[in-house]
Amino acid sequence: MQMTGNTILITGGTSGIGRALAEAFHDRGNRVIITGRSLAVLEEITAGRPGLMGMPLDLGAPNSLVQLERDVRTRFPELNVLVANAGISHPEDMTDENWDVSAAQLIVETNIMGVMRATAAFLPILKNRPGATIMATSSALAFVPRADFPTYCASKAFLHSWLTSLRHQLRKVPVEVLELSPPYVQTKLTGAHQITDPRAMPLDAYLAEMMQLLERGDHPRGEVLLERDQARRWAERDDRYEEIFAAMNPA
Ligand SMILES: NC(=O)c1ccc[n+]([C@@H]2O[C@H](COP(=O)([O-])OP(=O)(O)OC[C@H]3O[C@@H](n4cnc5c(N)ncnc54)[C@H](OP(=O)(O)O)[C@@H]3O)[C@@H](O)[C@H]2O)c1
Repeated sequence: MQMTGNTILITGGTSGIGRALAEAFHDRGNRVIITGRSLAVLEEITAGRPGLMGMPLDLGAPNSLVQLERDVRTRFPELNVLVANAGISHPEDMTDENWDVSAAQLIVETNIMGVMRATAAFLPILKNRPGATIMATSSALAFVPRADFPTYCASKAFLHSWLTSLRHQLRKVPVEVLELSPPYVQTKLTGAHQITDPRAMPLDAYLAEMMQLLERGDHPRGEVLLERDQARRWAERDDRYEEIFAAMNPA
């Protein structure tokens, strides 16, 4: 993708990876619109940064995306990049007698339907725009799951497959389709403890490495994947799936 001069909409731009990405793109001379559920948070992040704008979006509220699409079409018809990044994660214990599918349903609604709905809403605007790009955030867990996060990992595996098809279908439009597959990164995704978890990659280190890959166009098949995650990406091909699964999911 081109790294400057874009108008970029980032869902889930109020914290973690989305916010860091928004600030990095803004620093590189792009107009960036971030979305999130809290107006106060959006205002706080965008204050003093002309060219970084906040617009509300709650993927759980059906009309919210319709309203956002209308507002963006009016105020930013030059939009040429969508980053469908908003996502949630919850552990699920399917052996618990109280286990039900409510957490799974919320994950599917946000991580799968949220990305598909955002794409459906903005694809008509992006089509035929110069440098049009759709980027979505899956996860390195798309390739080998952590069994205590079953629906989360499955939602990311879904996105990996779906983005592959989207990329193929859009090859002549043309809209570039990129998949960000981060490793475990220090954000509040699974709770406040994750921000300081020493096992997680520091957010600034992840951003720096990922932006380098984007700048160099070093993302074969549209997959923006750190070197450290290549083993998981190719676990099946390299006949290492069981070994890597066992290492990630101790008995
Ligand atoms: N951190 C990791 O280890 C990791 C690894 C691989 C992939 N990822 C993926 O990276 C993406 C960003 O996660 P993160 O780690 O940066 O987590 P985060 O700090 O918790 O950020 C999540 C973002 O999603 C937004 N969001 C959540 N539910 C939403 C909803 N119903 N409607 C609208 N926006 C919603 C949040 O906005 P508001 O709360 O302000 O509404 C927030 O901006 C996710 O897709 C995640 O699965 C993260």
